[in-house]
Amino acid sequence: MTGSERNDGPPLLELDRVGLAYGPVRALTDVSLAIRAGEVVGLVGDNGAGKSSLVKLVAGVHRPTAGGMRWLGRAYAPSGPRDALEAGIATIHQHLALAPRLPVWQNLFLGTERVRRSLLFGLPVLDTARMRREARAALDRLAISVPDVDRPVGELSGGQRQAVAIARALLWNARLLVMDEPTAALGVRETEEVRALIRGLKAEGVAVLLVSHDMQDVVAVADRVAVLRKGRLAAVRDAAGLDADRLAHLIMTAEAA
Ligand SMILES: Nc1ncnc2c1ncn2[C@@H]1O[C@H](COP(=O)(O)OP(=O)(O)OP(=O)(O)O)[C@@H](O)[C@H]1O
Ligand SMILES: [Mg+2]
Repeated sequence: MTGSERNDGPPLLELDRVGLAYGPVRALTDVSLAIRAGEVVGLVGDNGAGKSSLVKLVAGVHRPTAGGMRWLGRAYAPSGPRDALEAGIATIHQHLALAPRLPVWQNLFLGTERVRRSLLFGLPVLDTARMRREARAALDRLAISVPDVDRPVGELSGGQRQAVAIARALLWNARLLVMDEPTAALGVRETEEVRALIRGLKAEGVAVLLVSHDMQDVVAVADRVAVLRKGRLAAVRDAAGLDADRLAHLIMTAEAA
């Protein structure tokens, strides 16, 4: 019996035998996985195993070429990233999609700008004061400090950029947060802060799908670990009892069923 079968409560997200092909390249084959509220699932595997491809399906960037997904028990086929966000799934991609020349607050609201009615003629105008205020509040929830929301993102450190990407996801009060290598650019202290953030979200009932090459990250926060190998799900294990060495060994040896 796997961890998923023992975990009570209906799943938030279910992948049912999903496949994804980029032309002749089969990135994912027959992947079935469920994620429940408040559950942290680590997604691991070698370079090219299909982790980011799976993230992109969930985030609405790509559509599965086989199988399907369910969200809150209903068919889930997002037409794009905005659709996924509105459903309650926020994603932080491996290559942060930030605009370096724009200030922090504007990056938080890219494509989702807040508008208000102008006093003159009641026309919609950007509500910059509100966006600055909400940006400040979202960043203050994180332990990584970003002192000035008016600074261009290009002037921030790797950790601060990650914080901006996380804050943007938090603005949506997502029920599932998908993070693709969130600590890759971070120092020791910032990595610990991201782990604390994940634990905090879990305590609030948010589910997290965490892709990481850092085995310590995964064993520190995950409830379950899913191992991809050449696009197939090779193992799903409870994280309890796994340490970084055992997990690394599992990645190298697990064979796709
Ligand atoms: N846009 C694309 N077009 C064609 N092939 C792609 C595309 N994106 C990914 N692939 C291929 O799909 C496979 C899975 O790639 P993916 O990026 O999902 O792996 P990954 O597990 O995230 O790897 P990494 O650990 O290096 O980030 C690889 O063979 C990759 O070359
Ligand atoms: Mg990747």
